[in-house]
Amino acid sequence: MPPVRPAPARTVGQMTNEWCGWREATERALYGPENGFYTRPGGPGPAGHFRTSVHASPLYAGAVATLLCRVDTALGRPDELALVDVGAGRGELLTGVLAALPAEVSARVRPYAVERAARPQGLDPRIDWRGELPAPGSVSGLLFANEWLDNVPVDVVETDEDGVPRRVLVRADGTERLGEPVDGADADWLRRWWAPPLTADATGGGSPGLRAEIGRPRDEAWARAVRTLRAGLAVAADYAHERSGRPLFGTLTGFRDGREVPPVPDGSCDITAHVALDACAGPSAERLTQRAALHALGVTGRRPPLTLAADDPAGYLRALSTAGAAGELTDPAGLGGFGWLMEPVGGECAGLLKGWDA
Ligand SMILES: C[S@@+](CC[C@H](N)C(=O)[O-])C[C@H]1O[C@@H](n2cnc3c(N)ncnc32)[C@H](O)[C@@H]1O
Repeated sequence: MPPVRPAPARTVGQMTNEWCGWREATERALYGPENGFYTRPGGPGPAGHFRTSVHASPLYAGAVATLLCRVDTALGRPDELALVDVGAGRGELLTGVLAALPAEVSARVRPYAVERAARPQGLDPRIDWRGELPAPGSVSGLLFANEWLDNVPVDVVETDEDGVPRRVLVRADGTERLGEPVDGADADWLRRWWAPPLTADATGGGSPGLRAEIGRPRDEAWARAVRTLRAGLAVAADYAHERSGRPLFGTLTGFRDGREVPPVPDGSCDITAHVALDACAGPSAERLTQRAALHALGVTGRRPPLTLAADDPAGYLRALSTAGAAGELTDPAGLGGFGWLMEPVGGECAGLLKGWDA
């Protein structure tokens, strides 16, 4: 086995913690019991640091409510209709969906928040808050995961000067060096899902300094989430990339107080990387952009007709503001460019967004 060549230190801080892979370091930094970015008691939660589609506009919860109603109809209006929000943050999406549902559907909904952080105070008592997914095959309805998979920790690899992909090791201060060459199931994953550009062949031969994230833990996490459903639809919405266009240097990054910052795994910032949603997709999956999905759910950025301004000035302003919010959610260069991975379980919920284009 070739010797391990240390990479130049990227960040030098005061902390001298042990070296470990990014997956382990991120797990500790985000979900450690005392100082985890997401789990520390009294933390501000995701909304305190960045804006997801859920926070951008109530139109998003409205669209998820519309989707839940379509799932309900497809399943024949069951007595109990599950809505499982995985990576529920502070329960904002569930709260919004419950408010947007017609009373008849709302009365049958069983809302679950699956979240590693503690239940926030004052949440709707109907919401079943839990740290783990419900048992496999135990519920029927809609499972929705907005910006969850990008926070499932992954290892990072970098090609050394001979083009061999090696696991990147990191300390809590963000200093990095290269570890052993990647092998086994991780090397297989890279070969199948990331090469090229990482390597022509993940055993070697690539250019030095290329980076990638090994998405295998996300594939497994998503498959587990989908298995929760007995029947219905599972949806993951996230920033994503495709095998045909993986970034040359990976996408691992940090966020704090609304700003992108270097990823330092000390609990001070979010640590996230784009999701290889194509690798997560099961055999019956449907994939589309958030823009296409929201259009099919009735959310468009279409401006109101100018004639409305004369007939109903206040209504015109309201419609203009709604169009602005819809525009943000569907902007192809922003949230609209996110991927939606839709996984029907059982035949009933296949193609629920087909033929609804606005
Ligand atoms: C980026 S935030 C998104 C929050 C919310 N879905 C939204 O869109 O605003 C990701 C959330 O996923 C949670 N999370 C990550 N891994 C999880 C897991 N395995 N089980 C439950 N929650 C998890 C984190 O604690 C965090 O609150």
